[in-house]
Amino acid sequence: MTTLIVVKTVEELKSAPEEFREAVSKLVISHAVNELYGAQVFDEPAIAFAPTPYAKWLTCRVAMEEYGHHVRFKQLGVQMGIPEERMVPGTGKRPLSIFEFPLKTWEEFVAIKLLADLAEILQVEDLLHCAFHPLRNLARATMPEERFHAQFGEDFSAELVKTEDGKARLQAAVDAYWPYLPSFFGGSKSRNNEIFRKWNIKQRTNDEMRVDYIKRATEVATKYGLTLPALQQAA
Ligand SMILES: [Fe+2]
Ligand SMILES: [Fe+2]
Repeated sequence: MTTLIVVKTVEELKSAPEEFREAVSKLVISHAVNELYGAQVFDEPAIAFAPTPYAKWLTCRVAMEEYGHHVRFKQLGVQMGIPEERMVPGTGKRPLSIFEFPLKTWEEFVAIKLLADLAEILQVEDLLHCAFHPLRNLARATMPEERFHAQFGEDFSAELVKTEDGKARLQAAVDAYWPYLPSFFGGSKSRNNEIFRKWNIKQRTNDEMRVDYIKRATEVATKYGLTLPALQQAA
């Protein structure tokens, strides 16, 4: 069941029901924290691994945009009255497990942009019709950049798979990272997700998103002759 209220501004949020306010705060915090983690753990270190000046240039742009996503979500959070320390890694939410592995190679970064940014696209897509318009607008502004990151992953994958060796290294990176990605979408029975959908803040269940993600990730991997390892357990 969907409760149809629309909150057009941060000002209007003050008079929204508490459950709605808490739900949008959780989403803003989670985006702010994860965007910063990603930028620190993957995108910025990847600049050093990028093999050519051209690749470094584009990687700098990706890193700049990921830091920018954090900045924008955090700015919205500050306007909403969320304490700043809850929107940076370390003090607030536990990070997603994928952020616990420091980046070691260029191929790992390409695999992450190819597959993890696709997960990010699905998350942002789900906010494009969010009942809290400042968050909806932020999702709309962020989307073209997330698409660029996924395209970056595709373009450099296409480059790497041209050689046997490059393809083997990229496949090894996919094998290492893929098992962690479907859990991005949260638990199957998530109380948070129920509340997000009740208020029309998000549209889909975690499982619906996960199934769609696995399908789209499989399509994109297949396009470059890559395979996704079987998942150990139904995520
Ligand atoms: Fe991002
Ligand atoms: Fe991204």
